Amino acid sequence: MESNLIDKKIPYYLPVHKEVEIFEHAAKNKLPFLLKGPTGTGKSRFVEFMAFTLKRPLITISCHEETSSTDLIGRFIIKGAETLWLDGPLTTGVKKGAIVYLDEVAEARPDVIVAIHSLTDHRRELFIDKLGETVKAHEDFMLVASFNPGYQRGFKELKPSTRQRFVAMSFEYPEPKAEAEILIKESGVDEDSAKRLVSIGNKIRNLKELGLTETVSTRLLVDAGKLIHSGLPKRLSVKVAVIEPLSDDAEIIEALTDLANLMI
Ligand SMILES: Nc1ncnc2c1ncn2[C@@H]1O[C@H](COP(=O)(O)OP(=O)(O)OP(=O)(O)O)[C@@H](O)[C@H]1O
Ligand SMILES: [Mg+2]
Repeated sequence: MESNLIDKKIPYYLPVHKEVEIFEHAAKNKLPFLLKGPTGTGKSRFVEFMAFTLKRPLITISCHEETSSTDLIGRFIIKGAETLWLDGPLTTGVKKGAIVYLDEVAEARPDVIVAIHSLTDHRRELFIDKLGETVKAHEDFMLVASFNPGYQRGFKELKPSTRQRFVAMSFEYPEPKAEAEILIKESGVDEDSAKRLVSIGNKIRNLKELGLTETVSTRLLVDAGKLIHSGLPKRLSVKVAVIEPLSDDAEIIEALTDLANLMI
């Protein structure tokens, strides 16, 4: 009974390359890890899986333009007549030996990057400026960050002095066979439909001339698989889960719909 409960929590992740092995070695050597790659390629799922495998708590911080070092490190709060210090998620993770995952780290304010520098080299310490304190990282603390490389307009870059502190890996769309397996497992869709969805995905991925900012991710195909599995007609499922999220251009939507309809 108990083991069943534990089993249920194992995040499903199908390894695509040697990422599991690489991550384990990075963790063993206390090296920070950078995941590069477009949206929906399994980066978050992979980190959840690794945290589970290594039996370490996972703290995920989704970074955006307003994310500051205060959000990560902590702040004073006023409670009644008292002023209390409250650790931020990064400080908590540093102290208790968690995997701290900074999702889309390049989006955060520059002071976040400054704050993590001393954690990502041999020092492995966090300076809490508001307390004038330095915290040594717990043995098991590991910093993981993701970032979506600059082919996307409006997305920020990471400076070499930051990038070069991480072991880095690119995440891409899985091979067709693996991607179909992921679809079946994640959505419950039948094998034939899964294969067709993967073909549609790859066909659209190869249409570079459409100038889409992001192309079909595994996530979109999983979503289409879920709709099909729950009984929505296949063509409609592809249209609303794969094509509409990709573009707002009526001509592109029509062309992609025609193309997909021939394939499913
Ligand atoms: N290798 C994989 N094993 C299992 N599931 C996968 C894999 N790759 C992708 N998926 C599926 O794709 C979905 C999206 O993956 P995930 O959320 O990890 O993407 P991401 O790379 O973190 O995207 P984003 O950059 O938008 O955060 C998952 O919910 C899962 O269903
Ligand atoms: Mg993610």
